[in-house]
Amino acid sequence: ACIPVICVDGPTASGKGSLAALTAQRLGYHFLDSGALYRVSAFAATRAGVSLDDAAGVARIARALPVQFEGDRVFLADEDVSEAIRTEAGGMAASKVSAHPEVRAALLALQHGFRQLPGLVADGRDMGTIVFPDAPLKIYLTASARHRAERRHKQLISKGNSTTIVRIQQDLEARDARDMSRPVAPLKPADDARLLDNSDLSIEESADQVIGWWQGTR
Ligand code: C5P
Repeated sequence: ACIPVICVDGPTASGKGSLAALTAQRLGYHFLDSGALYRVSAFAATRAGVSLDDAAGVARIARALPVQFEGDRVFLADEDVSEAIRTEAGGMAASKVSAHPEVRAALLALQHGFRQLPGLVADGRDMGTIVFPDAPLKIYLTASARHRAERRHKQLISKGNSTTIVRIQQDLEARDARDMSRPVAPLKPADDARLLDNSDLSIEESADQVIGWWQGTR
């Protein structure tokens, strides 16, 4: 518990991942992309022919997940699955398996293992509420659905995908609705979280805010 953790939670495409990674880099802390664990679990389940509705089956896979992070690359055993898991379909599949309490429980110890000196910045939906409830700093990052859809649209277009902002906004609102309404670990701010709306902030400005708060807690 003496190893510091900064939690960055929030809805899909709020910019949590970029903010958490930059904050970790600036502080020299470790970084946990917890969404990647749900994405890899769903990917590995599909690969193994296990239905995403099979809670026990997916949990069995999640409990022995041979996942490795190297920078921003994600490996399943020896296979680089970074691109394969970071598709919109991969996000939807992750959202499905993440609704199973068995799967969430299976990934808990793995997530706790990332808490190492000198500290951790953890990105997800339930970092502050469930996984690291004793974290000294919890951020709940938001941005309007329109801003989030526009950002995701830019990312997808730059990767050569063709889609529309309206379509993306519908998809991310559907995913948020599922994440917020599930009975287990629903997406919501921790009671002691600080709300940060980054609709009109650059990622550097958001990181400045987080680091300012972090210095204030010490
Ligand atoms: O953050 P990312 O978009 O990669 O997460 C994919 C999905 O995994 C989310 O929509 C959510 O359903 C699930 N997730 C979760 N808890 C976390 C991180 C992700 O339920 N801590």
